[in-house]
Amino acid sequence: MPRFDAVLFDLDGVLADTAHIHFAAWRRLAEELGIHLEPAFEEKLKGVDRMGSLELILAHGGPEGSVTRTAEEKRVLAERKNGYYTAAIAEQTPDDLLPGARRVLEEVRAAGLKIALASASRNAPPLLQQLGIAPLIDAIADPAAVKAPKPAPDLFLEAARLVGAVPERCLGIEDSVAGIISIKDAGMVAVGIGDPTVLTRADYVVPTTEQFHIGDFL
Ligand code: BG6
Ligand code: MG
Repeated sequence: MPRFDAVLFDLDGVLADTAHIHFAAWRRLAEELGIHLEPAFEEKLKGVDRMGSLELILAHGGPEGSVTRTAEEKRVLAERKNGYYTAAIAEQTPDDLLPGARRVLEEVRAAGLKIALASASRNAPPLLQQLGIAPLIDAIADPAAVKAPKPAPDLFLEAARLVGAVPERCLGIEDSVAGIISIKDAGMVAVGIGDPTVLTRADYVVPTTEQFHIGDFL
């Protein structure tokens, strides 16, 4: 009997080559605010939702950056970043999938497992359509419908619920530290995509999506 009933995928940095596009958009906004983001800051923003990312950036700019701005001013800033991001992904096509992404989804389906998306991104549904992989995905967990964002386990638990799988029989795949914490705190098995010295809580780490084979886990 296979160990898993479902595989829960993150999107940005796992299926779509968009993690660096999110960071470029944040960096542009930060520069406009006079805040310099060094390349290492990207890791801290991965998996973190829109408002959470803005708070981290404002705090990086100085202790008053967050408290002196109203909720409305922050909403406008986050919206500005989202405009940069959506403009940058507007022309994405199936050619922009990360190498191996489509093959991985097809292999998981062929193995008879359910597939759910657990992405913090509000842009995930249209992006899945653009990338041509929406038909391969059984359910999308809505980040607006859960109580707490990653690193809380809520979004992964919701993804599991949507496909009728118990957490112990779910495999979660993530490129972010926040996401790996979510998966582990949800009681699932975590596969990290990236660097094992960064994704230290993952049960397994592969360098890129291309190196992931569901057969290794069944
Ligand atoms: C995550 C990304 O997938 O989605 C983060 O790793 C991003 O960088 C987050 O901030 C939220 O995305 P969006 O599209 O809702 O602003
Ligand atoms: Mg990601």
